Amino acid sequence: MAVVLGIETSCDETGVGVVAGGRVLGAALASSMDEHARFGGVVPEIAARAHLESLVPCLRTAMEQAKIEPGDVDAIAVTSGPGLAGALQIGLAAAKSLALAWNKPLYGVHHLAGHVAADTLEHGPLPERSIALIVSGGHTSLLMLGDLARDPIAHLGDTRDDAAGEAFDKVARLLGLGYPGGPSVSRAATEGDPAAIAFPRAMLGQGYHFSFSGLKTAVARHVERGERNVPDIAASFQEAVVDILTRKAVAACLEHDVRTLLIVGGVAANARLREVAAARCAAAGIALRVPPPALCTDNGLMIAAVGDLLAEAGHPPATLGLSTDSSALLTRAVCV
Ligand code: KG4
Ligand code: ZN
Repeated sequence: MAVVLGIETSCDETGVGVVAGGRVLGAALASSMDEHARFGGVVPEIAARAHLESLVPCLRTAMEQAKIEPGDVDAIAVTSGPGLAGALQIGLAAAKSLALAWNKPLYGVHHLAGHVAADTLEHGPLPERSIALIVSGGHTSLLMLGDLARDPIAHLGDTRDDAAGEAFDKVARLLGLGYPGGPSVSRAATEGDPAAIAFPRAMLGQGYHFSFSGLKTAVARHVERGERNVPDIAASFQEAVVDILTRKAVAACLEHDVRTLLIVGGVAANARLREVAAARCAAAGIALRVPPPALCTDNGLMIAAVGDLLAEAGHPPATLGLSTDSSALLTRAVCV
C-alpha cells in the first residue's frame, strides 16, 4: 500500500493531503478567498503569492496529522492543470522539489479527475462503469468513466459557455451577495420561493451539453426591471440550475444504462442540488454518490486520491520535465 502526498494549488485553495490505500491519513487547507472577496473574484497574482506562503505550513500540518516522515512517502501527486497558470506553477515547483529531494516518483494529475477521485475517499472504489457530473467554478461536464487510473474519460456533454459555479458567482454579484457566489446565493435562497420566477432552462432535451449564460442574462434583466426580491430570485435561479443539471445527468445514466451517478466539484456542495439529485436518482433506480461538502470544494486529498489510484495501477511516473497546462482538457486522470 503506497502512501501518497497530494498537492493542489490550481485556484485559491492551497491543499495538501496524504492518502494510503483509498484512506485519508492527514490533510491541511489554506484559502486566500477572503483576499479576493473585495474584487468579486479570484485575482491570479494574489492567489499565487498566497500559495507560496501557505504551501510549506500546509505540508508540515498534513504530514504531522498523518504521522509520516519524508521517508514514509511513496509518491507525490500534484495538480498540473487546468487552473491559474501562476498558481499551478507554485504547486508544481514544490512537488518537483520534493520529488527530487526525497527521490520519489511524481504524478501530474488533472484537477477535475481529482474532483471525481475525492468521492472514492468517502464511498470506496468506483464501479466498472459510472457517470460523473462535474460542476465547479470553471467547468461543467457529464463524463463516462471506467477505471479512473487506466481508461480514457469520455465527455457526454460540456457547458457551451459559463460553468455552473461561474453562474452562481455572477448571479451573486448581480444580486449584491458575497463572493464566492455558491454559498451566498444558496443561503439567500433558503428564504425564497423556488417557483416565484420561471427562469429559462436552456438546452433541455437537446443532448448533454449545458448553457448557463442565458440564465445569467435572464437574472440580470429581472434585476434591471427593478424587481428586487433577492431571496425569490436566488431560489428561482438555483432551482433552474439544479433542474437542468439533475435532469441531464439522470437522462444520461438511463440512456447509457449506467446505474451509478457521481456529482462532484464545488457546486456539489449545494444542498438543493444534493436533495433534488437524491430524489430523482432514487426514482430512476440510480445509485447516487456525492462527496461530503468539504471534499467537494478544492483540496489536496482529491489529488492524493488520484495519485493513490495511479500508484496502485503501476502507472509510470512523470519526469521532472512535467509542465503545467492551464487549459488542460480532461481526457485522462494523469497528465504527462
Ligand atoms: O471545485 P471548486 O472548489 O473550484 C473549481 O475548481 O472551480 O468550485 C468552486 C465553485 C465556485 O463557483 C463556488 O461558487 C461554487 O463552487 N460553490 C457552490 C457552493 N459552494 C461552492 N455553488 C453552489 N452552492 C454551493 N453551496
Ligand atoms: Zn475544483
